[in-house]
Amino acid sequence: MFNPQLNSKGNLNHLLSIEGLSKEKIIQILDTAESFLKIGERDVKKVPILRGKTVCNVFFENSTRTRTTFEIAAKRLSADVINLNVATSSQSKGETILDTINNLIAMNADVFVVRHSSSGAAHFIATHVKPNIHIINAGDGNHSHPTQGLLDAFTIRKYKTNFNKLKVAIVGDILHSRVARSNIHALNILGVPEIRVIAPKTLLPYEIEKLGVHVFHDIDKGLKDADVIMMLRIQNERMDGVMLPSQEEYFKTYGLNQTRLDLAKKDAIVMHPGPMNRGVEIDSAVADSDQSVILPQVTFGIAVRMAVMAILAGQHS
Ligand code: CP
Repeated sequence: MFNPQLNSKGNLNHLLSIEGLSKEKIIQILDTAESFLKIGERDVKKVPILRGKTVCNVFFENSTRTRTTFEIAAKRLSADVINLNVATSSQSKGETILDTINNLIAMNADVFVVRHSSSGAAHFIATHVKPNIHIINAGDGNHSHPTQGLLDAFTIRKYKTNFNKLKVAIVGDILHSRVARSNIHALNILGVPEIRVIAPKTLLPYEIEKLGVHVFHDIDKGLKDADVIMMLRIQNERMDGVMLPSQEEYFKTYGLNQTRLDLAKKDAIVMHPGPMNRGVEIDSAVADSDQSVILPQVTFGIAVRMAVMAILAGQHS
């Protein structure tokens, strides 16, 4: 079957989604990231893998973590980095995405990191550029956020070592979450035996069970004996109508507080991709507790994004 992420030799040319990646490829990315993690702890945080290459961050949607960590990652690989300010670019004058990208290619950009509110945007661009250009999906609509899925897998492996005995609970607005979808695919590929999704019916996609997850509407039952808890943000900006009675009611019914966290295993880790809404999906004390790995996720994100760019564009395969 045609896989738009691969080139004619079967190597990874773009990163558009977790679907279509083999277990071996994901492990290769995680292992490469492990070797890059140490670079961030050195005095001189640079290696020459992307020297002479230009990485262009093109974000049509807001971002703190993804855009910044891609920029740091590219700079640690010695690439030149351009951050296109979409709000002040010629997009506002009616230029199409492809014309914007082609103009940046004319300036000899090599790698594009693209975030867009439309599902399929990165895929669309990838099918219209020459094979020497690499597209990385930094989040498209509610479809996919592959580097988040990879950095979450990296985080889980760091704290739990193996995937094959874990119970992972993903809690919250699954319906609008590209992070949940990428994580479900990654965890299935990596052999996690029990993936649970916990949410009210209004925040679950139709037939989510077909992705190989167990559905819980009662958070207390869903968290029981979990090894990993991934909390998700309520994405008000993607909701068409009223899907929740109120944020207070949601916190009461689905918010992660210490009493609920105590239902999971004693050494369970708490994750959140950010941005986090304290007091809506997660209690502040839990977010800042010893079981929280929310800030390490951000640090690991740099190493994982270095690994992805090195493998795509740095002859690091
Ligand atoms: N996790 C994540 O995608 O965060 P940003 O929206 O800040 O990039």
